Amino acid sequence: MGSLIFISEALVPTSSVEMARIYLASRRRNRRLGVTSHLHHEDGIFLHYFEGPPGAIETLLLSIRCDWRHRNMRVLHRGPPKERLLTEWMGFSEAPEASFLRWMGGAPDGITPEQMLERAEIADIVEFIGTLQPNRSVSAV
Ligand SMILES: Cc1cc2nc3c(=O)[nH]c(=O)nc-3n(C[C@H](O)[C@H](O)[C@H](O)COP(=O)(O)O)c2cc1C
Repeated sequence: MGSLIFISEALVPTSSVEMARIYLASRRRNRRLGVTSHLHHEDGIFLHYFEGPPGAIETLLLSIRCDWRHRNMRVLHRGPPKERLLTEWMGFSEAPEASFLRWMGGAPDGITPEQMLERAEIADIVEFIGTLQPNRSVSAV
């Protein structure tokens, strides 16, 4: 079992048809590959966390990396997860309803959400993501 986190700059609004296309394609494809994931959007930044077979995650990443709907993708973390956290093939959340900054207790002056994400402990990001998906067993999905 592997996990991966990337951040990138969104180039499409989250309420767009393009986002709906991403969401629908991802649910289908992630399910086929046995990958569960959560995509979070905050202040123009995508934060995406994946769990599943490492080869399947890398396959997905090859497509996602050249997707025109975002840019400047940076992988923050790769490695085995402590436990399988996610139950959805593709969960989605966005600020202000769900906010990493708020969850972290706010940002120091002059620090953007992007900088917060870049500098955050991986354990904090994973814990935040874990608060966003319903706590069901994967086999029940
Ligand atoms: C921020 C972002 C996250 C994405 N996440 C996924 C994902 O988890 N799974 C997925 O299949 N496609 C995801 N996509 C869409 C892929 O880039 C790609 O369009 C889709 O997998 C179809 O791939 P194909 O055109 O190679 O068949 C994402 C795109 C963006 C911009």
